[in-house]
Amino acid sequence: MLRLYSSEKYKSVKHFIDWLATFGETEDGGVTRLLYTKEWKNAQNALKQEMSEMGMETYFDTVGNLFGRIEGIKDKQHVILTGSHIDTVVDGGKYDGTYGVIASLLATKMLLEQYGRPQKTIEVVSLCEEEGSRFPLTYWGSKNITGEYSLENIRYLRDLNDISFQHAMGEAGFPIASYQNNKRNDIKRFIEVHIEQGSILEKNKADIGLVTHIVGQCRYTVQLIGESNHAGTTPMAERKDPMVCAANCIVTLTKKAEASYYQGLRVTVGSINAEPNVSNVIAKSVSFTLDVRHHEKDILQEYCEDMIQMIKEKAMKSGIQISIKKWADSEPVALDTSLHSVMRKIIKNKGLRDMEMVSGAGHDSQILGIHYPTTLFFVPSHKGISHSPLEFTSLEDLENGVSVLKEILYKLAYEGVEL
Ligand code: GLV
Ligand code: MN
Ligand code: MN
Repeated sequence: MLRLYSSEKYKSVKHFIDWLATFGETEDGGVTRLLYTKEWKNAQNALKQEMSEMGMETYFDTVGNLFGRIEGIKDKQHVILTGSHIDTVVDGGKYDGTYGVIASLLATKMLLEQYGRPQKTIEVVSLCEEEGSRFPLTYWGSKNITGEYSLENIRYLRDLNDISFQHAMGEAGFPIASYQNNKRNDIKRFIEVHIEQGSILEKNKADIGLVTHIVGQCRYTVQLIGESNHAGTTPMAERKDPMVCAANCIVTLTKKAEASYYQGLRVTVGSINAEPNVSNVIAKSVSFTLDVRHHEKDILQEYCEDMIQMIKEKAMKSGIQISIKKWADSEPVALDTSLHSVMRKIIKNKGLRDMEMVSGAGHDSQILGIHYPTTLFFVPSHKGISHSPLEFTSLEDLENGVSVLKEILYKLAYEGVEL
């Protein structure tokens, strides 16, 4: 794809998104931009340049979160933070995360052009990592802002190519020798706009989703270890086949999740690996991931505990050894809704419709929302498709989100609305 010139990019939010999608674009029109890769680094540096051209003071923190700062005239210390993440899943869409970064940049640019410097400091953030798609760890960006993560959390992590987290970080220009994880205490509010990634808005013919809660999620890697042997000579009754055990577990996991008691629960086995992965060999080992989500902590916990027990029992019955690693565990979060009435007025005045909703996708807002008052709102995703090259949001919907964000930032940073 042709890289757009700076001025051309500002024609619309869509141009800007298409431009950023050139960093890591895939053959089928998706984007793969994993943490600390060349594509990721080039995208962050290109955004840094854009921020500077817009008149922002720019800086990276020690893990690669990028900030563009416009210091307030009256209140320098307290920051209204707005943005999202730029990492993607493998062959993901171009809107997830990126839209929030670009909407924040454009809204701030428009405010600066129209009204000059704000009373309170605004910072736009392009968070380094949210997805957990390169290393088995999520929210590396936001959890470093809140001081929850340290180098301990990444010490032994390696990607699928056996590259260590620490090495990848250093290669991207963030050596661990410089690492700091002090919690930021200057953030007054975080505002994130994101595509919905589901079909609730579209089905309800609403333009903006005001998020009240974000589901909690647990992610595991389950490894089943059996006995590798000949596919033709080993009688069925004498096998210790981890593939069959895995298949059994996956069917039970899904069936159980469909029970009405667990309404709202989402369970996904999105990745599976067999060793040695050969057609005429009974597998020695099978590993699969398990992603479980619900907006009620107790239900999430109960399901996970029951299922871990079920996997252990099935494995034991088949003479299979297991290892279960939980590598992500975030609680459901209730977001601050104090801005919702102001936002409803803004949305109504624009002739748009809003609705309150729960987010089934994870967002940086659920991490930052525990530490700072946080507002998350959505624009529709066409047919609810996301984490796919087919992810799409219309220009009109993208622009609606930018204009709502612009007005809410105006209220907070220019009018100094205290909430
Ligand atoms: C992040 O996008 C997630 O919800 O998996
Ligand atoms: Mn996202
Ligand atoms: Mn995502």
